[in-house]
Amino acid sequence: MLFFIDTANLGDIREAAELGILDGVTTNPSLMAKEGIKGDANVLRHYIDICELVGEAQDVSAEVISTDFKGMVEEGEKLAALHENIVVKVPMTKDGIKAISHFTRVGIRTNCTLVFSAGQAILAAKAGATYVSPFVGRLDDISWEGMNLIKEIREIYDMVGYTTLILAASIRSPLHIVQAAKAGADVVTCPLSAMLGLLNHPLTDIGLEKFLADHRKVNG
Ligand code: G3P
Repeated sequence: MLFFIDTANLGDIREAAELGILDGVTTNPSLMAKEGIKGDANVLRHYIDICELVGEAQDVSAEVISTDFKGMVEEGEKLAALHENIVVKVPMTKDGIKAISHFTRVGIRTNCTLVFSAGQAILAAKAGATYVSPFVGRLDDISWEGMNLIKEIREIYDMVGYTTLILAASIRSPLHIVQAAKAGADVVTCPLSAMLGLLNHPLTDIGLEKFLADHRKVNG
Protein backbone atom coordinates (compact mmCIF):
# COMPACT_ATOMS: atom_id res chain seq x y z
CA MET A 1 0.00 0.00 0.00
CA LEU A 2 1.31 3.43 -0.91
CA PHE A 3 1.49 6.18 1.72
CA PHE A 4 0.52 9.73 0.78
CA ILE A 5 0.43 12.68 3.15
CA ASP A 6 -2.73 14.78 3.07
CA THR A 7 -1.51 18.32 3.66
CA ALA A 8 -0.13 21.45 2.03
CA ASN A 9 2.20 22.10 4.98
CA LEU A 10 5.82 21.95 3.79
CA GLY A 11 7.17 21.16 7.28
CA ASP A 12 4.87 18.14 7.64
CA ILE A 13 5.69 16.95 4.13
CA ARG A 14 9.42 17.24 4.86
CA GLU A 15 9.06 15.32 8.15
CA ALA A 16 7.13 12.50 6.45
CA ALA A 17 9.58 12.40 3.54
CA GLU A 18 12.51 12.09 5.97
CA LEU A 19 10.98 8.84 7.29
CA GLY A 20 11.66 7.40 3.85
CA ILE A 21 8.17 5.90 3.59
CA LEU A 22 6.38 8.66 1.67
CA ASP A 23 5.04 7.95 -1.82
CA GLY A 24 3.11 11.14 -2.56
CA VAL A 25 1.06 14.12 -1.42
CA THR A 26 -2.60 15.06 -1.68
CA THR A 27 -3.89 18.59 -1.24
CA ASN A 28 -7.25 20.28 -1.58
CA PRO A 29 -8.45 23.90 -1.53
CA SER A 30 -9.20 23.71 2.23
CA LEU A 31 -5.67 22.46 2.99
CA MET A 32 -4.12 25.20 0.82
CA ALA A 33 -6.27 27.83 2.59
CA LYS A 34 -5.20 26.42 5.99
CA GLU A 35 -1.60 27.25 5.05
CA GLY A 36 -2.68 30.79 4.04
CA ILE A 37 -1.74 30.20 0.39
CA LYS A 38 -3.80 32.62 -1.70
CA GLY A 39 -3.72 34.08 -5.19
CA ASP A 40 -3.23 32.02 -8.36
CA ALA A 41 0.52 32.67 -8.66
CA ASN A 42 1.19 31.69 -5.02
CA VAL A 43 -0.94 28.57 -5.29
CA LEU A 44 0.90 27.42 -8.43
CA ARG A 45 4.28 28.23 -6.83
CA HIS A 46 3.31 26.21 -3.74
CA TYR A 47 2.51 23.15 -5.87
CA ILE A 48 5.95 23.43 -7.48
CA ASP A 49 7.55 23.77 -4.02
CA ILE A 50 5.78 20.58 -2.87
CA CYS A 51 6.88 18.69 -6.01
CA GLU A 52 10.48 19.83 -5.60
CA LEU A 53 10.46 18.94 -1.90
CA VAL A 54 9.31 15.34 -2.42
CA GLY A 55 11.40 14.73 -5.52
CA GLU A 56 10.93 12.26 -8.36
CA ALA A 57 8.26 9.59 -8.62
CA GLN A 58 6.00 11.10 -5.98
CA ASP A 59 2.51 11.99 -7.14
CA VAL A 60 1.20 15.35 -5.94
CA SER A 61 -2.55 15.88 -6.29
CA ALA A 62 -3.52 19.48 -7.14
CA GLU A 63 -7.24 20.23 -7.22
CA VAL A 64 -9.09 22.34 -9.79
CA ILE A 65 -11.33 25.12 -8.48
CA SER A 66 -13.47 25.43 -11.63
CA THR A 67 -16.73 23.54 -11.67
CA ASP A 68 -17.51 23.66 -15.41
CA PHE A 69 -15.93 21.33 -17.99
CA LYS A 70 -14.11 24.05 -19.95
CA GLY A 71 -12.71 25.69 -16.81
CA MET A 72 -11.61 22.33 -15.36
CA VAL A 73 -9.80 21.44 -18.58
CA GLU A 74 -8.00 24.80 -18.79
CA GLU A 75 -7.06 24.74 -15.12
CA GLY A 76 -6.07 21.05 -15.13
CA GLU A 77 -3.81 21.47 -18.17
CA LYS A 78 -2.12 24.43 -16.47
CA LEU A 79 -1.61 22.41 -13.26
CA ALA A 80 -0.29 19.36 -15.14
CA ALA A 81 2.22 21.55 -16.99
CA LEU A 82 3.69 22.79 -13.69
CA HIS A 83 5.62 19.61 -12.88
CA GLU A 84 5.69 15.96 -13.93
CA ASN A 85 4.60 14.87 -10.43
CA ILE A 86 1.25 16.67 -10.66
CA VAL A 87 -1.95 14.63 -10.70
CA VAL A 88 -5.02 16.75 -11.45
CA LYS A 89 -7.68 16.36 -8.75
CA VAL A 90 -11.20 16.68 -10.11
CA PRO A 91 -14.48 16.54 -8.13
CA MET A 92 -17.04 13.79 -8.76
CA THR A 93 -19.58 15.74 -10.80
CA LYS A 94 -20.97 15.38 -14.34
CA ASP A 95 -18.54 17.98 -15.67
CA GLY A 96 -15.80 16.41 -13.53
CA ILE A 97 -16.31 13.02 -15.19
CA LYS A 98 -16.24 14.69 -18.63
CA ALA A 99 -13.02 16.43 -17.66
CA ILE A 100 -11.44 13.20 -16.35
CA SER A 101 -12.35 11.44 -19.63
CA HIS A 102 -10.68 14.30 -21.51
CA PHE A 103 -7.56 14.18 -19.34
CA THR A 104 -7.38 10.40 -19.84
CA ARG A 105 -7.47 10.89 -23.62
CA VAL A 106 -4.62 13.42 -23.55
CA GLY A 107 -2.50 11.47 -21.03
CA ILE A 108 -2.94 13.65 -17.95
CA ARG A 109 -3.20 11.70 -14.68
CA THR A 110 -6.21 12.38 -12.46
CA ASN A 111 -7.55 11.86 -8.95
CA CYS A 112 -11.35 11.78 -8.75
CA THR A 113 -12.23 13.32 -5.38
CA LEU A 114 -15.29 13.61 -3.13
CA VAL A 115 -16.37 10.03 -3.78
CA PHE A 116 -18.96 8.63 -1.37
CA SER A 117 -20.53 5.68 -3.22
CA ALA A 118 -19.56 2.60 -5.23
CA GLY A 119 -21.54 3.95 -8.20
CA GLN A 120 -19.42 7.10 -8.25
CA ALA A 121 -16.27 4.95 -8.06
CA ILE A 122 -17.44 2.94 -11.11
CA LEU A 123 -17.89 6.19 -13.09
CA ALA A 124 -14.43 7.41 -12.07
CA ALA A 125 -12.86 4.12 -13.23
CA LYS A 126 -14.81 4.14 -16.50
CA ALA A 127 -13.56 7.67 -17.19
CA GLY A 128 -10.00 6.40 -16.67
CA ALA A 129 -9.13 8.18 -13.42
CA THR A 130 -5.68 7.25 -12.13
CA TYR A 131 -6.94 7.43 -8.54
CA VAL A 132 -10.38 7.41 -6.95
CA SER A 133 -10.68 9.06 -3.53
CA PRO A 134 -13.45 7.69 -1.30
CA PHE A 135 -13.74 9.88 1.85
CA VAL A 136 -13.80 7.43 4.75
CA GLY A 137 -13.82 9.88 7.69
CA ARG A 138 -16.64 12.02 6.34
CA LEU A 139 -18.82 8.92 5.96
CA ASP A 140 -17.97 7.95 9.55
CA ASP A 141 -19.01 11.49 10.54
CA ILE A 142 -22.58 10.77 9.43
CA SER A 143 -22.63 7.35 11.18
CA TRP A 144 -22.00 5.46 7.94
CA GLU A 145 -19.25 2.81 8.00
CA GLY A 146 -16.70 4.54 5.73
CA MET A 147 -14.38 1.57 5.49
CA ASN A 148 -17.16 -0.59 3.97
CA LEU A 149 -17.01 1.65 0.91
CA ILE A 150 -13.32 0.84 0.41
CA LYS A 151 -14.13 -2.90 0.61
CA GLU A 152 -17.04 -2.54 -1.83
CA ILE A 153 -14.99 -0.62 -4.39
CA ARG A 154 -12.13 -3.13 -4.04
CA GLU A 155 -14.54 -6.01 -4.74
CA ILE A 156 -16.04 -4.30 -7.79
CA TYR A 157 -12.72 -3.15 -9.26
CA ASP A 158 -11.21 -6.63 -8.86
CA MET A 159 -14.27 -8.31 -10.36
CA VAL A 160 -14.46 -5.99 -13.36
CA GLY A 161 -10.73 -5.48 -13.77
CA TYR A 162 -10.64 -1.70 -13.37
CA THR A 163 -7.09 -0.42 -12.92
CA THR A 164 -7.93 2.87 -11.17
CA LEU A 165 -6.11 2.94 -7.82
CA ILE A 166 -8.25 3.15 -4.68
CA LEU A 167 -6.93 6.03 -2.58
CA ALA A 168 -8.50 5.93 0.89
CA ALA A 169 -8.97 9.61 1.82
CA SER A 170 -10.31 11.56 4.79
CA ILE A 171 -8.23 9.19 6.91
CA ARG A 172 -7.84 10.58 10.40
CA SER A 173 -6.24 8.00 12.69
CA PRO A 174 -3.69 5.18 12.80
CA LEU A 175 -6.59 2.72 13.11
CA HIS A 176 -8.09 4.07 9.88
CA ILE A 177 -4.76 3.36 8.13
CA VAL A 178 -4.70 -0.27 9.31
CA GLN A 179 -8.37 -0.73 8.38
CA ALA A 180 -7.78 0.77 4.92
CA ALA A 181 -4.91 -1.68 4.34
CA LYS A 182 -7.14 -4.60 5.39
CA ALA A 183 -9.94 -3.33 3.15
CA GLY A 184 -7.62 -3.47 0.14
CA ALA A 185 -6.87 0.22 -0.48
CA ASP A 186 -4.01 0.74 -2.94
CA VAL A 187 -3.08 4.05 -1.33
CA VAL A 188 -3.85 5.76 1.95
CA THR A 189 -3.59 9.52 2.39
CA CYS A 190 -3.54 10.93 5.90
CA PRO A 191 -2.24 13.76 8.06
CA LEU A 192 1.24 13.45 9.59
CA SER A 193 -0.32 12.84 13.05
CA ALA A 194 -2.05 9.64 11.86
CA MET A 195 1.13 8.43 10.14
CA LEU A 196 3.27 9.03 13.25
CA GLY A 197 0.57 7.45 15.40
CA LEU A 198 1.43 4.10 13.80
CA LEU A 199 4.76 4.17 15.66
CA ASN A 200 3.22 4.05 19.10
CA HIS A 201 2.92 1.05 21.36
CA PRO A 202 3.46 1.13 25.16
CA LEU A 203 5.25 -2.25 25.10
CA THR A 204 7.80 -0.79 22.66
CA ASP A 205 8.53 2.05 25.11
CA ILE A 206 8.69 -0.30 28.12
CA GLY A 207 10.86 -2.78 26.22
CA LEU A 208 13.32 -0.12 25.08
CA GLU A 209 13.57 1.30 28.59
CA LYS A 210 14.37 -2.18 29.96
CA PHE A 211 16.99 -2.91 27.26
CA LEU A 212 18.75 0.40 28.03
CA ALA A 213 18.52 -0.10 31.82
CA ASP A 214 20.06 -3.61 31.52
CA HIS A 215 22.83 -2.20 29.31
CA ARG A 216 23.52 0.53 31.87
CA LYS A 217 23.68 -2.01 34.75
CA VAL A 218 26.61 -3.80 33.12
CA ASN A 219 28.30 -0.88 31.35
CA GLY A 220 27.76 1.80 33.98
O1 G3P B 1 -8.16 13.56 1.47
C1 G3P B 1 -9.33 14.30 1.67
C2 G3P B 1 -9.21 14.98 2.97
O2 G3P B 1 -8.38 16.09 2.90
C3 G3P B 1 -10.46 15.29 3.65
O3 G3P B 1 -10.22 15.01 4.97
O4 G3P B 1 -10.55 15.12 7.35
O5 G3P B 1 -11.28 17.02 5.87
O6 G3P B 1 -12.52 14.87 5.87
P1 G3P B 1 -11.19 15.54 6.07
